[in-house]
Amino acid sequence: MVRETRLSPTDFIYPLFVCEGSNVRTPISSMPGVFNLSIDNLVEECGQVLALGVPSVILFGIPGAKDARGSDAYAQQGIVQRAIRAVKKAHPSLVVMADVCLCEYTDHGHCGLLDDHGHVQNDASLPLLAQMATTCAEAGADVIAPSDMMDGRVAAIRQALDAKGLHETPILSYAAKYSSAFYGPFREAAQSAPKSGDRKGYQMDPGNLREALKEVEQDLAEGADLVMVKPALAYLDVIRAVKERTNVPVAAYNVSGEYSMLKAAAQNGWIDHDRAMMEMLTSIKRAGADLILTYFAKDAAKLLG
Ligand code: PBG
Repeated sequence: MVRETRLSPTDFIYPLFVCEGSNVRTPISSMPGVFNLSIDNLVEECGQVLALGVPSVILFGIPGAKDARGSDAYAQQGIVQRAIRAVKKAHPSLVVMADVCLCEYTDHGHCGLLDDHGHVQNDASLPLLAQMATTCAEAGADVIAPSDMMDGRVAAIRQALDAKGLHETPILSYAAKYSSAFYGPFREAAQSAPKSGDRKGYQMDPGNLREALKEVEQDLAEGADLVMVKPALAYLDVIRAVKERTNVPVAAYNVSGEYSMLKAAAQNGWIDHDRAMMEMLTSIKRAGADLILTYFAKDAAKLLG
């Protein structure tokens, strides 16, 4: 009766990976319970998510072919654009978010274009990210979620959406995204590890909190409607600080490494999976998250009933 923080399935956004083919359900070895799904299986999975009371999914596309410019990311018939159309057609009430980033689509695995020296070209990447956003929104995505961390991308995306008459499509910016070891398992799932170098040039240093507030401020000034802190568990103080300084919904991404650590420990019988999961999710909400992106969404929704 006196509990201050209560979880609900409506807090969750479930991340899903969509790949080419039909009837594909390939397990991700580093993420027990997570799969690469072809569009047909994705549509079915989304039905289960909705039935559990989880209102939203975020989609990550895994293209059949990658190239230097990440062409499939912003093609009208790209994997994620086709997936969005199919899911929205089958489940119109599901809130479908599109992750906007090039790293799953580029052969070099970076989130933006590279120059001849292998350096990320921030400004040259913006039109491609904006085009990915508009093609996803035109396909029916309800929310555009840029995760690339290029400077100025929220403004570029907002402008591009407005120019296409997509004024009402909100932007959830991965505003404070740290350069984190906890993304390791995701990069297996999305086959998106950088082939050379790392993401420290565009993602944030784990030691910085004030920089997170600056990133959030900039993204809001550029037109973000919701902001995200990522990862969640090692950054609960950042979630709290962002929550105290903004009036927009704050999302937190309970990332792949946070998920896999618990799954591995539970598989070894070292920890009580369900109790630890609920404790983790509760801590993220208690820190101030209004929305939690989590691979635990289905597990937790089942327990919440
Ligand atoms: C793409 C992206 C990443 C994640 C979400 N979007 C990976 C990265 O930045 O390398 C990570 C999610 C997770 O670990 O669960 N830029």
